[in-house]
Amino acid sequence: MAKYHWQSQNVKQSGVDDMVLLSKITEDAIVDNLKKRYMDDYIFTYIGPVLISVNPFKQMPYFTDREIELYQGAAQYENPPHIYALTDNMYRNMMIDGENQCVIISGESGAGKTVAAKYIMGYISKVSGGGSKVQHVKEIILQSNPLLEAFGNAKTVRNNNSSRFGKYFEIQFSRGGEPDGGKISNFLLEKSRVVSQNENERNFHIYYQLIEGASAQQREALGIMTPDYYYYLNQSGTYKVDGTNDSKDFQETMEAMQVIGIPGDIQTQVLQIVAGILHLGNISFIEAGNYGQVESTDLLAFPAYLLGIDPNRLQDKLTSRKMDSKWGGKSESINVTLNQEQANYTRDALAKALYARLFDYLVESINKAIQKPYEEFSIGVLDIYGFEIFQRNGFEQFCINFVNEKLQQIFIELTLKAEQEEYVQEGIKWTPIEYFNNKIVCDLIENKLNPPGIMSVLDDVCATMHAKGEGADGTLLQKLQAAVGTHEHFNSWNSGFVIHHYAGKVSYDINGFCERNRDVLFPDLIELMQSSEFNFIRSLFPENLNTDKKGRPTTASSKIKKQANDLVNTLMKCTPHYIQCSPSRLDSYAILTAETWPCWRGPEQQGVLHLLRSVNMDNDQYQMGRTKVFVKNPESLFLLEEMRERKFDTFARIIQKAWRKFIARKKYEQMREEASDILYNSKERRKNSINRNFVGDYLGLEQRPELRQFLAKRERVDFADSVNKFDRRFKSIKRDLILTPKGIYLIGREKVKKGPEKGQIKEVLKRKMEFGGISSVSLSTRQDDFFILHEAQYDSLLESNFKTEFLSLLSKRYEEVTKRKLTISFGDRLEFRVKKEGWGGGGTRIVVFQKGPGDVAQLKPGGKTLSVTIGDGLPKSSSSLYRRTAALLLKHTLRSLSSAHQNGGAKFPRGPHNPQADITYSSPQKQGRPLQGGPPKLGSQRGPRPPAPNQYNQGNLDFLNVPDQGMSGKQRKMSIHQRPPPAPKPQPRPQGPRCRALYQYVGQDTDEISFEANDVLDLVKEDPSGWWTGRIGGKEGLFPGNYVEKI
Ligand SMILES: Nc1ncnc2c1ncn2[C@@H]1O[C@H](COP(=O)(O)OP(=O)(O)OP(=O)(O)O)[C@@H](O)[C@H]1O
Ligand SMILES: [Mg+2]
Repeated sequence: MAKYHWQSQNVKQSGVDDMVLLSKITEDAIVDNLKKRYMDDYIFTYIGPVLISVNPFKQMPYFTDREIELYQGAAQYENPPHIYALTDNMYRNMMIDGENQCVIISGESGAGKTVAAKYIMGYISKVSGGGSKVQHVKEIILQSNPLLEAFGNAKTVRNNNSSRFGKYFEIQFSRGGEPDGGKISNFLLEKSRVVSQNENERNFHIYYQLIEGASAQQREALGIMTPDYYYYLNQSGTYKVDGTNDSKDFQETMEAMQVIGIPGDIQTQVLQIVAGILHLGNISFIEAGNYGQVESTDLLAFPAYLLGIDPNRLQDKLTSRKMDSKWGGKSESINVTLNQEQANYTRDALAKALYARLFDYLVESINKAIQKPYEEFSIGVLDIYGFEIFQRNGFEQFCINFVNEKLQQIFIELTLKAEQEEYVQEGIKWTPIEYFNNKIVCDLIENKLNPPGIMSVLDDVCATMHAKGEGADGTLLQKLQAAVGTHEHFNSWNSGFVIHHYAGKVSYDINGFCERNRDVLFPDLIELMQSSEFNFIRSLFPENLNTDKKGRPTTASSKIKKQANDLVNTLMKCTPHYIQCSPSRLDSYAILTAETWPCWRGPEQQGVLHLLRSVNMDNDQYQMGRTKVFVKNPESLFLLEEMRERKFDTFARIIQKAWRKFIARKKYEQMREEASDILYNSKERRKNSINRNFVGDYLGLEQRPELRQFLAKRERVDFADSVNKFDRRFKSIKRDLILTPKGIYLIGREKVKKGPEKGQIKEVLKRKMEFGGISSVSLSTRQDDFFILHEAQYDSLLESNFKTEFLSLLSKRYEEVTKRKLTISFGDRLEFRVKKEGWGGGGTRIVVFQKGPGDVAQLKPGGKTLSVTIGDGLPKSSSSLYRRTAALLLKHTLRSLSSAHQNGGAKFPRGPHNPQADITYSSPQKQGRPLQGGPPKLGSQRGPRPPAPNQYNQGNLDFLNVPDQGMSGKQRKMSIHQRPPPAPKPQPRPQGPRCRALYQYVGQDTDEISFEANDVLDLVKEDPSGWWTGRIGGKEGLFPGNYVEKI
């Protein structure tokens, strides 16, 4: 029976997620477990801190945005093993601990390293934010892949897209975690592939891409023929790769160059070099009396043209070489003619040099495009080709295997060795784990002295060998035998030597070692290329031949040695992902119990014991060392680790929640204003619908897994509320309406009909609407809460108290997703189409809205029409009362300030006091009738706006100049009373109560009126909210009631 992951929903468990949990860790058990999981399509498995990935050779369904969301910020135990989990962990570690991170991806050719590296980059790019500059950096980071793969990958017998170079890609981040820079270091490009390939393999992809994808014009300019025409491509007889579209890839390569910022004219020259190399390869030589001679001089012109050099000079340099010779203490330069073999070698050396320098240029261009003046944080990804053992192993394999040997050293240093040394220091009883420390092999290869390592001997031989290098390899073998012949990891055989690597014995064929190690580009060829008419090509050969001549030339092996050691240094500075038991780790478990958090008061050892007991760890599971505690089984440590993660998770959620609440509040304030814009002038308003604080989630989805199950793990909820849904017979039923950035969900409840849960009521997803499918929303013009969602197939008639909020959120999301404005229409006769169901379905229904008594809608269904009657609401032009509330509030505050200071005889202008208001009304808050959803409090996140900002801003504090209360106040009031009323306005004055303005009021909104102190207004309506309706100068509108006195 399938087991299910303890937390994630519907995740089947196959084998064990983490192989340290295997009861017996043997090779068989590991392979079995991996196999079991692989058969169930699980390619990822942990073994402690190491993630194992098995190449599925098919697209797995778990690399979508959903997984990106799922793994974001999740604790490791929450989800099945995944490369996203590892990446997320790195990203978080980097942000939280402020330490650089690195991930080493190793494995044999075709194992999936490069694909894994791309998933890492893709994940980081998706989860990190950033403005347009950061987006540009991200784009370059992602685009660097197709470009470097075109020039650095090739089809081999093992892998159709084999990386023929090693790459360490550092993604650099700002302090805010945005990728804003990067750096690529490249290693060991297999340049021998440029001039020859084994059977069933190809040259680098770019050649085939160019041949397949070039435009007619490019074909003509670059002399593009079919691939079999070129010697550098036709040796293997393989031109096509299954599943690869070279022509399409060519467009992508060119596009990548564009994104990276390589100028158009340089792009042309890059292609010219690629084609130039192909044409160079077709120059062949014949032996003419011991000398090599160009077989067909016609073939010189085109490569010379593409490379911008003189064809005669090219011919000259391919068949002869300048050499220094010493004659009786004098040194002179003589021209030596090459034989056919040497000429071939020279041609190939030129081709390889051109290609390798071009490749370095491309890497450099990427680096230039994303380099940052200073480094903050970084995550490094090492994708280097793995250990190689072939039938015949040459100098390239020797270098590759050396780098892998160094990586193994890091692994050992960081895990086994460090751990066991610690046991000794701490006096812990333990049985040593047998492991092979491969330092001895590294030393065998790279030691400088005592005894000199293989690379040192190689360099010595190369330094003293003749230009042609005949016999040098034989000398090398002899010298190696003398230097390291007795080394236990070294043997020699008749045509080479054997190294006992950590991964096994590899026998190397010595043939070509010296030549390849020397890797010198003869000065003749450098000079030749420096004579190119193209700046770009000249820039690829920057050597100064007059000064660079001196000293030992750098060799390939010394370069590799340096690169490998630099890499080791870089990696050692990063945080690798291995679990280690250290004091700081136990500190980090302090949050597990109240007694230990924030700190334990008592002897440390006691505190540690307290912690271990708190998770019920058995006594035999740990030992106390001198300064630390050692836990025997990884499971036990996981227990602590898991408890800790859970605690952190809880705390993180609390912090997150508070932060979200704060952000949400700010957002909702803005939304409230936007919301009233939607209905402004179109629909009458309920008093509480525009002035209410928006909450968004009225269902509390966080605590409602039965509802959340229909959403993706971290899907954000914009709005959730219980609404009434009306069916074809206008019968209403409750539905939970949820709005997320992905769409609208309508969730209902049904009785389970069969199975073990038969009879239970369960939540069911009744409908999910994507934004794209919604055509419009319609509402009445009255104050009711109905709205109709019109969708492609059928419509939904819904009723919600929070329709304004919902609509405002919906229209925002809708616009974001569809890039169109949501159509919202208003009318008092609305039509909705009902769902087609069986024979009786389809058709339309009508809802008619009419004026009636009361503020509660009365429904009368009749056949296909529903009539809704409801009283008048606030005018259609009502907008947020927020600002008015603010104005009122400020006044009330001033008033209370003034009363508070009365006895002290405050010297500043006092707040208004209206004794009549005091009698008739208390302040709106005191009234016990909440000012529609509660007025914003002074000092809340967003302070109330001053009633007349314009006045405020101009330093005009007139509005504060209100009479003090007490005697002077009374006198003033009397004087106002005694003043003659203003001249009557020409229009007929309606009968009814009037009032006189005590203070000036400047309307803050279109539905408000303005007046001067002493103006007389007709009082239309006194509303307990404090906002009265009045008429002045022929205009009717709202104003704060306590600015006036009734007359
Ligand atoms: N996670 C994966 N899902 C699907 N296919 C994969 C996955 N990983 C690898 N592959 C397949 O395997 C091929 C080889 O993978 P990749 O190029 O990453 O190997 P590699 O380890 O980088 O090999 P090399 O050392 O030769 O560069 C890919 O082109 C792809 O077809
Ligand atoms: Mg690769």
